[in-house]
Amino acid sequence: MDKPAGSLPTAQIPRQRKPTARSGGAELRLPTTRESPFDPPAEYRRLQDEDPVARLAFPDGSHGWLVSRYEHVRALLADPRISSERALGSNPVREVPPEARELQQIRPGQFIGMDPPDHTRYRRLLTGQFTVRRMNALVPRVERIVADHLDAMREMPRPVDLVRAFALPVPSLVICELLGVPYADRAQFQRRSRTLLSMTTDGPTLLEVRDEMDGYMRALVQAKRERPEDDLLSGLIGRTDPPGRLSDEELVNIGNLLLIAGHETTANMLALGTLALLTHPPQLAALRSDPGLVEQAVEELLRYLSIVQFGLVRVAKEDLEVGGRSVCAGEPIVASLAAANRDPRQFPDADELDVSRRYSPHLAFGHGVHQCLGQQLARVEMKVGFRALIEEFPSLRLAVPLSRVPMRDDMFVYGVHELPVTWDEP
Ligand code: HEM
Repeated sequence: MDKPAGSLPTAQIPRQRKPTARSGGAELRLPTTRESPFDPPAEYRRLQDEDPVARLAFPDGSHGWLVSRYEHVRALLADPRISSERALGSNPVREVPPEARELQQIRPGQFIGMDPPDHTRYRRLLTGQFTVRRMNALVPRVERIVADHLDAMREMPRPVDLVRAFALPVPSLVICELLGVPYADRAQFQRRSRTLLSMTTDGPTLLEVRDEMDGYMRALVQAKRERPEDDLLSGLIGRTDPPGRLSDEELVNIGNLLLIAGHETTANMLALGTLALLTHPPQLAALRSDPGLVEQAVEELLRYLSIVQFGLVRVAKEDLEVGGRSVCAGEPIVASLAAANRDPRQFPDADELDVSRRYSPHLAFGHGVHQCLGQQLARVEMKVGFRALIEEFPSLRLAVPLSRVPMRDDMFVYGVHELPVTWDEP
């Protein structure tokens, strides 16, 4: 029998070297405290200048590295000597609760945590579904969904929470239609993904939610085996060619990965991006007066906000050098997307939001083999979403002071928990 895709050759995992403390001072922990809602913790700038590949202490007592310069982050993420698979147990912000250790096992189909060639097999099966062409073909449908939600929002008593009225439901509905997940079930899967992506969820709850998600998706896969429809999941189920034939367990894990990744991220970009525009009036005015800027504005907001706030974790498969430092096989490395996207060596006036910035490749979608599969979909949703929101609500503004907007400091995907907004009657 074939080795199940994604299984770990545990015996080959290099053991981590003995922890070493930083010389002459406290150990460096991943910086997480922000001084302003839009900027990454200030400590990153110091590290970029003085210690760009820094020794990092993990909450479980292990040690690794924090990489903060654009040039190093980009090179590292494209380096075949690093592993996503072996990084599953390394969490730079919280120790994984002992009861939830089994969540660190890769499961068939969970390709975000796999290395080639297992990763490659799944990625190839899905890439064709997410091409620029296919995503552009979705534009009219996304426009309809956006328009319907804005129409409904207009009728609501003000102030309105933009997250609940717009930013969350739009990408949720789009990914549901694409995958073939009934939108009527959204309350459950939105709650589950919020719980999974929170830093404060305890171990038993993590497992409970994971099991609920599995049960839900298993029933859906079963239903689609019996009555296939015109959607991505049915398409995957219907494949009988050897590389494409997938077990129920693989389908369940792929379905859940796409469902979570497909709405939480874009939802937070829509809400946090709106907040950034509302609090940077010259940028909002520039976009209003030239809606053609929306494409650049989306890329700039992705760069400026970097919602995957704690970076990407990898483990060195062999000894390697990063920015002149020697990284040993088995050591975990955090590649900070938020720091890299604000690196002044790459982006002039890196801390300025500038919607007319000439395109420069940011790393908000990652880089290398795992670079975001859904990025074209996310771009379509953001372009259509920001453009319509700005056009339809010319007097849109925050309904509370910025300091009272609850930020998602406690979540792996940054953003806002709520965004109270208001506007004038036309
Ligand atoms: C603005 C929105 C989004 C952001 C900022 C974002 C960010 C990212 C990042 C940084 C990665 C790389 C993870 C790594 O290297 O370990 C990633 C991977 C991924 N994203 Fe997104 N994402 C977004 C939207 C979406 C959407 C709409 C989907 C829809 C299906 C999606 C599906 C995925 C998947 C499946 C992967 C794993 C790819 C792989 O391992 O080959 N993402 N995303």
